[in-house]
Amino acid sequence: MDRQLSNSRVLVTGGAGFIGSNLIESLLQSGNSVVCLDNFSTGRIENIKDFTGTPCFKMIEGDIRNFNDCLKAVTGIEYVFHQAALGSVPRSIKDPVTTTDVNIGGFVKMLFASKEAGVKRFIYAASSSTYGDHPDLPKVEDKIGMPLSPYGITKYVNELFASNFASTYSMEVIGLRYFNVFGRRQDPDGAYAAVIPKFLKLLMNHQAPVINGDGSYSRDFTYIDNVLQANHLAAIVTGKTAINQVFNVAHGERTSLNQLFEIIKEIAGRYDMEILNINPVYGPARAGDIPHSHASIEKAKNLLGYCPGKNVEEGLNEAVDWFWKHL
Ligand SMILES: NC(=O)c1ccc[n+]([C@@H]2O[C@H](COP(=O)([O-])OP(=O)(O)OC[C@H]3O[C@@H](n4cnc5c(N)ncnc54)[C@H](O)[C@@H]3O)[C@@H](O)[C@H]2O)c1
Repeated sequence: MDRQLSNSRVLVTGGAGFIGSNLIESLLQSGNSVVCLDNFSTGRIENIKDFTGTPCFKMIEGDIRNFNDCLKAVTGIEYVFHQAALGSVPRSIKDPVTTTDVNIGGFVKMLFASKEAGVKRFIYAASSSTYGDHPDLPKVEDKIGMPLSPYGITKYVNELFASNFASTYSMEVIGLRYFNVFGRRQDPDGAYAAVIPKFLKLLMNHQAPVINGDGSYSRDFTYIDNVLQANHLAAIVTGKTAINQVFNVAHGERTSLNQLFEIIKEIAGRYDMEILNINPVYGPARAGDIPHSHASIEKAKNLLGYCPGKNVEEGLNEAVDWFWKHL
């Protein structure tokens, strides 16, 4: 990555999670001092163990639903990278109350605390779930439908608050709509695990993964390094047209669940040939899932200079290698 944020004081909320911990690593490598705010509800201490004890890293264990924790975390901060949230569509259907408390209540508290502290820019994790039932493919930022889940609603409401704070308080706010991110440190366990680490761990244990639906549903799977690039660019971009906007962050191609399974199996099969004999089991489609998700990345390319590197297969090669060494 050639254009990176450096020499700045930054806060990463949700920094003990998958994306947040990768972001912390990248921001430390490019010479920033980093504060992490996390309550470890889905994040893990192992994700940040390599940074703790280093002089430019500070961990604050706290909750974004607690305004005092937010104020403490933003003190002296120039850039906020807000990642903390409860992810997962099924989790939000099972418990919409907690998802809403964290994803909307916590978001507004972080945003208001950032405004009170006078941060330079607030960059936040938005989501492809905001496209809801809009039928168009590829997804273009200004064409969204009705959200299909409480999670999707929370992510859309975040965008409304961000836009309102930008105009009301003249804040600089940028939303990055991530599309199915995967890579190192992603949690393979639990009821709400993402599909790639979940499939891989099952294959490593010689178990057959369950594909929800007939496997034709497709996603724009995005390797973590592309997400890191987008965050750095969102922090350093100076063009006025890029500020107070939302951007798709994806690779810009579509892979069905059946194709995904075959790619993971083929790569993992190089480590353990027995995996090549495993076939998936098919289960019912999940409520709240959109059939297809595919991003147009033109806006991010044009206004941020975003240029995704590794595609799904290249990213999976690296991710499988990482999981093989760490699981
Ligand atoms: N992973 C994806 O594919 C994807 C896609 C779209 C959007 N996003 C968004 O990206 C962000 C990061 O996702 P992730 O995949 O790294 O998830 P994750 O669960 O690994 O990380 C979220 C982190 O937020 C922390 N957190 C949750 N509630 C908190 C609270 N009340 N106070 C403080 N910390 C809290 C968790 O402990 C965890 O460390 C989230 O906002 C998510 O909605 C992720």
